[in-house]
Amino acid sequence: MAEDSAAPSHEQDVNPWSVEGARTETGEVAAIDYEALAKKWNTSLIDQELLERFERVTGHKPHRWLRRGLFFSHRDFEKILTKYEHGEPFFLYTGRGPSTGSLHLGHTIPLQFTKWLQDVFDVPLVFMLTDDEKALFNDQATFEDTLHFAMENARDIIALGFDVKKTFLYSDLKYLGNHFLMNAWEFSRLITFNQVRGAFGFNESSNIGKIFFPSVQCVAAFATSYPEIWTDEPLPVRSQKIADIACLIPMGIDQDPYFRLLRDNAHRMRYPSPKPALIHSKFLTALQGAGGKMSSSNPNSAIFMTDTPKQIKTKINKYAFSGGQVSVEDHRRLGGNPDVDVSYIYLTYFEEDDEKLEKIYNDYKKGDLLTGELKKLAIDVLQENVQQFQERRKLVTDEVLESYMKPRKLEWRGNPNPVPKPPSEEKPEEKGKGKGKGKDKKLVVL
Ligand code: TYM
Repeated sequence: MAEDSAAPSHEQDVNPWSVEGARTETGEVAAIDYEALAKKWNTSLIDQELLERFERVTGHKPHRWLRRGLFFSHRDFEKILTKYEHGEPFFLYTGRGPSTGSLHLGHTIPLQFTKWLQDVFDVPLVFMLTDDEKALFNDQATFEDTLHFAMENARDIIALGFDVKKTFLYSDLKYLGNHFLMNAWEFSRLITFNQVRGAFGFNESSNIGKIFFPSVQCVAAFATSYPEIWTDEPLPVRSQKIADIACLIPMGIDQDPYFRLLRDNAHRMRYPSPKPALIHSKFLTALQGAGGKMSSSNPNSAIFMTDTPKQIKTKINKYAFSGGQVSVEDHRRLGGNPDVDVSYIYLTYFEEDDEKLEKIYNDYKKGDLLTGELKKLAIDVLQENVQQFQERRKLVTDEVLESYMKPRKLEWRGNPNPVPKPPSEEKPEEKGKGKGKGKDKKLVVL
């Protein structure tokens, strides 16, 4: 756990602040066992049936990260599909802890996936920058530092292409107040120190800000925290109608402990919200290989979105763990192991073409493709990805930044062709509501 990590452990340890694979008897770090994690935390694995339902309900082929199992686990995602199917409102929530001025490639995974979900579902997104958290958890960083990082990260996030009409991006240090803060205080009254100690490993020496912070990250999933985004005139008081709007949270699985706490307690609020649905990604592995995640706290483990093409090339050539053999002769004879090869693993994220990827996998395994050639393929794809990102980031002016961060009513349409609920599934007060919705559905009005 976060604060008692001094204790030696041989089991894998995944928590919101660090990720470590299990250690074998000989001290080697093993790859993260995601199935074991899902079992331990009691999440549901994403299976073929769920993906088929996704495609049926949305009319979209699942994202390659879903097809390839990189988003692998969820809680109640099927309930969100049912909501979408019937044209019921829901929103997306995700976040970033601004610990440095630049995102790394790993952070962009859940964020790019969130953008894709926003495009597919056509729903609002609230995006939290936890500049409060990052100063509370790092004594070296001032609150001014983390606020500054938040604003820099905000530009990165905008460069990922979120639709401004549907996106509210905020810094905790600047936005928190009003209904949001009321929710956070109310939620904190429901949770004891024992519960957060159990969930996050805090102890009696932890500063009290850390102990309160989970309440902040949790209530961001309540629609009532954002009175401005739902109606033209923000409601002066929280309401059950807004609280009923469901939430879907895409994230790396390290963030799950927060949302377990939330799901266990959301119904106890004065205006209860449904348990938020979650969808979890695996970690983009560190350059050094499986068993660790790409992390800002170890710059050699990560490709940053500010890296130059030359830096990317050097990092991949120098640090990317290889599944190849020691000599070309051995490699040709015995073949390589793409499953542990970091360059190949990166290609599984960023190479869109399934057939091309399969060929690379087979050629490497047979020894037809050499390590240097595989690294070159990864370098090309990553250089292009990062360079395009940098081009888009240059376009994020102060005005653009302001337009995403201003609390305001968001505009979205949801499902253009909702299917009315069978009468047996409707609550009495809902009967008749879905009828007549059709192709020319206007903007969603609550
Ligand atoms: P942070 O800044 O540590 O990470 C932001 C998001 O990126 C994910 N992530 C990764 N995903 C794949 N591969 C990696 N190597 C990798 N490293 C990080 C994280 O899981 C996260 O989804 N406290 C949070 C900010 C936050 C948040 C949220 C995140 C607030 N509300 C709601 C997700 C959902 C944090 O510090 O994230």
